[in-house]
Amino acid sequence: MCYAIPAKLIAIDGQTGTVDYFGEKRKILVDLDDLEIGDYVYAQGGVLVRKIPAAEAEEILKHWHDIFFELKKTDAALATIDQTKLSSNALHVLQKVNLRKSLTQDEMLALYELSDVQELKVLYEIANNVRQREHGNASCVHGIIEFSNYCSGNCHYCGIRKDRKLLRYRMSVDEIIATAKQAVDEYGFKALVLQSGEDFWYDDEKLITIVKAIRQMGVLVFVSIGLRSRETYRKLYEAGARAALLRFETSNKDIFAKLRPGTSLANRIQLIKDLQAMGYVLATGFIIGLPGETISDLVQNILLTKYLSPDMYSFGPLIPTDATPLGDAPKVNKDLVLKTIAISRFVDSNSNILVTTALETLDFSAKRAALLAGANSLMIDITPQYYRELYKIYDNKVDIPKEIGQNIAETVKLLYDLGRAPTDIGI
Ligand code: 5AD
Ligand code: SF4
Repeated sequence: MCYAIPAKLIAIDGQTGTVDYFGEKRKILVDLDDLEIGDYVYAQGGVLVRKIPAAEAEEILKHWHDIFFELKKTDAALATIDQTKLSSNALHVLQKVNLRKSLTQDEMLALYELSDVQELKVLYEIANNVRQREHGNASCVHGIIEFSNYCSGNCHYCGIRKDRKLLRYRMSVDEIIATAKQAVDEYGFKALVLQSGEDFWYDDEKLITIVKAIRQMGVLVFVSIGLRSRETYRKLYEAGARAALLRFETSNKDIFAKLRPGTSLANRIQLIKDLQAMGYVLATGFIIGLPGETISDLVQNILLTKYLSPDMYSFGPLIPTDATPLGDAPKVNKDLVLKTIAISRFVDSNSNILVTTALETLDFSAKRAALLAGANSLMIDITPQYYRELYKIYDNKVDIPKEIGQNIAETVKLLYDLGRAPTDIGI
């Protein structure tokens, strides 16, 4: 199984290169030595991660050729728009989107206020159309390993907060590396996210060992380990980590202070900026539906994400979780999440937008709906099953009962049904 199609390197210009997928070009960061024009490579998250022998690449590309063009047709057919269903007000805003003009905050608010089912349908169709215009049918699938549910943080929304009674686990360094190896060798992943609570049992030495070993497997190593020192992040970059996931969670500093005791929004944003300055491919975003937030806050959340100019937007709904201070918070409406995806797509048309498991937890069909409302990236949980059950950031995570193989098969089928190809999405 393969989550990235081999690409041909057709130009190198310093740190940047251009690759070709059946005639489609993408710009990527060149993160390997010893490359020549004409080499076949895998790219993930806009980073060239591995060179592959020409014979092997040509064999895989032969298999992909017809499928690739079939998928493109399906994707194009799904990206059409029926504008007759729109009110003149919404039509005006969406015409601006088509003309690539920026939306004002009031216009973003107006889109959030749409509630008519037909209008929402068109809103999502247009976002899907913009996604298709910007990225073609490229999509990105990352594997995620949740390696520890210990956390020194105590965020009010989170199911693995320090004060919540929970069976805790830590995967050993060897177990993490073995899980990654299986994901790469058996399942074909080319990008792996290493996620945990803020767990300082993993000191720099352990983290470096893990990152180095996984980078050597020829994949993009993504770290999602929360508030750690710049020094730690710098060392991990040196060890081969190239991407970091750190959400700012909310742009509302009062809500932030209330829900994340002992931390500040300004410090978190500074760390996010510093990670980007270190060279990390950045994924950031927020939680949708935190109590006290208004639609204006959501607009500010989107604008703050855009201001941080991440390579990937990552946001999902709050899932109220038992025995946390937000256990009784109201359930978030699926359309609020889909609107956030669609409006983000309009505001930052070229962005990569991730569908998170929290959204699927909210509604079983939401993964598909999100991919048809502007999203273009997915993650598959590849944590060993006995640990996965314990990584309870929120209750009732959807893919807990599923075998990894089944989960992968369903995701790939969904991507094929929607005409998406796992080419890398580029930078
Ligand atoms: N619902 C949804 N998302 C949550 N997160 C933590 N707790 C919850 C919850 N109850 C998210 C945070 C964090 C990420 C790892 O998980 O945004 O950054
Ligand atoms: Fe820890 Fe992150 Fe959960 Fe906060 S959101 S308690 S830092 S895992």
